[in-house]
Amino acid sequence: MEPLSLETLRRIDRAHHLHPFTDHADLERHGTRIIRSASGCTVIDEHDRPLIDALAGLWCVNVGYGRREIADAVHRQMTAVAYYPSFFNTTTEPTILLAGKLAQLAPKGLGHAFFSNSGSEANESALKLIRAYQKLRGARSKQKIVTRSFAYHGVTLATTSMTGLPACTEPFDLPLRGFVQVPGPYAYGANDGRTLEQYAEHCLAETERILLREGPDTIAALFAEPVQGAGGVIVPPPGYLRALRDLCRRHDILFVADEVITAFGRLGAWFASDLWNLEPDLLVTAKGITSGYLPLGATLVRDEIADVLTRGGNLAHGYTYSGHPAATAAALANLEIIEREKLVERARDDVGPYLQKKLQALAAHRAVAEVRGCGLIGALEVVPRGGRAELTPTTLLGVKAAGLVREEGVIVRGIRDLVALAPPLVVTHEEIDAIFAAVERGLDRLWG
Ligand SMILES: Cc1ncc(COP(=O)(O)O)c(C=O)c1O
Repeated sequence: MEPLSLETLRRIDRAHHLHPFTDHADLERHGTRIIRSASGCTVIDEHDRPLIDALAGLWCVNVGYGRREIADAVHRQMTAVAYYPSFFNTTTEPTILLAGKLAQLAPKGLGHAFFSNSGSEANESALKLIRAYQKLRGARSKQKIVTRSFAYHGVTLATTSMTGLPACTEPFDLPLRGFVQVPGPYAYGANDGRTLEQYAEHCLAETERILLREGPDTIAALFAEPVQGAGGVIVPPPGYLRALRDLCRRHDILFVADEVITAFGRLGAWFASDLWNLEPDLLVTAKGITSGYLPLGATLVRDEIADVLTRGGNLAHGYTYSGHPAATAAALANLEIIEREKLVERARDDVGPYLQKKLQALAAHRAVAEVRGCGLIGALEVVPRGGRAELTPTTLLGVKAAGLVREEGVIVRGIRDLVALAPPLVVTHEEIDAIFAAVERGLDRLWG
């Protein structure tokens, strides 16, 4: 069959496809982009143009594109048994092996995994497991959930309610009742003259004040992304997350690390919880667990909590595709690559520090007000010619800058007035050089 023309594909897409997180008027004006193939850190677009993907898809393609051995592992599994559920005392081999592997890799004590298909579902599962746990242990009044401003935890009704981004909540009249917000440590955004450390101290004090106002006996859990990703790559100062964790412990509130972006090497550790000694009660993963090759989420649960849940009768929660064997086979092959190629160590000792050095060098650019990052994630806050005072909620300079950088051959993400990067863990020095050269050229053009 002849391949369909770009015009035909775009016409069908326009007529029938509701895109996620897309301004459809803008899509119609510019035409749908279609990625046709990908290898390593490079994707090929609809015009056969190579682009370096400095966002790893959506912060997830940790091992890079085109890994034959993941495709082969999935093929083998699908040929043996393409699908069978994990309900009713049954499961499949790769799903068992992945649960065991995660228990081995995860921070101490997080020995149980509940599988789902995405980060949203993994957080949603955490919410339900926590609710059941609090009820089973006789703390039924503990039902509220605390999250931070600029948090991103997903798109279901409950996980949108946990998300601290008005652009995500307002169109749907969320949050639901019972979701409480405390300030996240976005010192640049607060712009009140305090240093990052001072602002984080203020956030901790405010968090404690709000916990006490709500009543700790009404609060089930606090969820936190160690580095807030979609909210703008918000990197906390040393000590803040551990203090937040200790605050939860003092008030008998479960602490959940949403590591959907940070798990599996991005920060130069298998988990941010290891890096910053967070000892979470639950740890939520997705994305890098398969490097995006197939959809998979895993909610890791502390053993004492799992004990209460497993002794509590029928666990009436689960998805048809919880522990889908093709996805868990992909995850096993993916984790094997990360281990064999020492990609976590590479992010920690080599390409992570190199990316951070290049990021710091761009701090001197006239259009850059702040850079921040950790390991293989980073952000640049950009400003117009007249400086920060001219920024408004609609300037969206980061989005504009990301468009210019794409014209220069590199995909980054524009969020409000900042540019975010998170390339695959296999990125080379040469690719990092090319990424930053393109970012610089884009920023040079930003003021017109
Ligand atoms: C920290 C975090 N949690 C949850 C999610 C939701 O994951 P998904 O889009 O797979 O539902 C995301 C997605 O970007 C995320 O970054």
